[in-house]
Amino acid sequence: AGNKIIVLGSVNADHVIQTPKLPRPGETVAGTSYQVIPGGKGANQAVACALISKEASNTAFIACVGEDSFGRENTASMAAMGMDTSAVNAVTGKATGVALISVDQNAENCITIAPEANACLDESVVQKHKDLIASGHTLLMQLETPLKGLTSAAKIAKESGTRVVLNPAPARPLPDSLLANLDMITPNQTEAELLTGIPVSDEDSAQKAAEDLHKHGISTVVITMGKHGAWISENDAMHLISGFKVTPVDTTAAGDTFNGALVVALAEGKPLEKAVTFANAAGAISVTRPGAQPSVPTRQEVDDYLAKSS
Ligand code: RIB
Ligand code: NA
Repeated sequence: AGNKIIVLGSVNADHVIQTPKLPRPGETVAGTSYQVIPGGKGANQAVACALISKEASNTAFIACVGEDSFGRENTASMAAMGMDTSAVNAVTGKATGVALISVDQNAENCITIAPEANACLDESVVQKHKDLIASGHTLLMQLETPLKGLTSAAKIAKESGTRVVLNPAPARPLPDSLLANLDMITPNQTEAELLTGIPVSDEDSAQKAAEDLHKHGISTVVITMGKHGAWISENDAMHLISGFKVTPVDTTAAGDTFNGALVVALAEGKPLEKAVTFANAAGAISVTRPGAQPSVPTRQEVDDYLAKSS
C-alpha cells in the first residue's frame, strides 16, 4: 500500500473573531477582528499530511462539502497543494460545515460547530470510496462526521490491511464496533477521560487510561498532554515524549497538525518515539500562528525547527 494516507473527515468555514476576553453566558463582548478561515478537523489534518509529507499527492481526502463558494474554494485550494481531492463530494442543497470560533489574548478559544454537509458523510458515501480506502497505508479520521460512516470506513480499512488511526475529537462516547477496528488512537486528556472514565492528570493516570484503550484491541495509544508533550503506550514502550516550549498565539488546529505529522512520520517508517517528537514540533509551530489551515507548517519548516532545537 506504499505510504499513501487517506484522511476522512470534516470541512468547516471557520468564522473567527479575536477578542480581548471570551464572553460568559449571556454576555456580549466587542471583538477586535473577524476573518473566515479554512478549517474543519478533517481538512486541517489532510492539509497537514499534504504539506508535511515529502509527496503531497500521497494524501487523499474523503469529505462532503456544500454546493457553495466556500466548499468550492477550499476544495480548489487543497487540490492546488497537490493532494488528491477526487473523493471530496459536493452535496446538492447543503451548505459547507461552519465553525464559530472566538480566540482571546491568551490564545484560549471557544468553538461551536454546525455540521451541515459533514453530516452527509455516511456509509453510502464511504462505500463509494472503498477502493481508495483499501489502497492506503493509513486511514486517519476524527469525530466531526457520522459514526456510521467512520465505522464502515474503519472496517474496510482493517479488512484490507490499511492502518486505522482515530483522533477522537471532539470528544464523544464510541461504540465497540469502531474501537475494535482501530490500530492507533490519539486522544487528548479530556477525550481520554471521556472514553475510559479515568481522569488523566499525570503519567500514572495516562497509562491507566492507555491500558483501558488497549483492552479494545487498540495496539498504539498516544495521549496528547498539551505543553507537557504526549504519553505513548505500545507493546512494552510506555513513556512521555516531551513537547516544545512556545508562546501560544492560537491553538486552533494544533491537534490536527500533530495528527497529520504523526501519521506522515509513521508512514515513512519512523519509530513511534521519533514520529511523536516530529509531530510535537509540527504542532508547536502551528500554535505560534493564527488560524487553522494557514497555521500548518511545511515539511521544511518542521525539519528546520527540529534541527534548531536539537
Ligand atoms: O481542530 C480545529 C477545528 O475544529 C477548527 O478548524 C474548527 O473547524 C473545528 O472543527
Ligand atoms: Na494555530
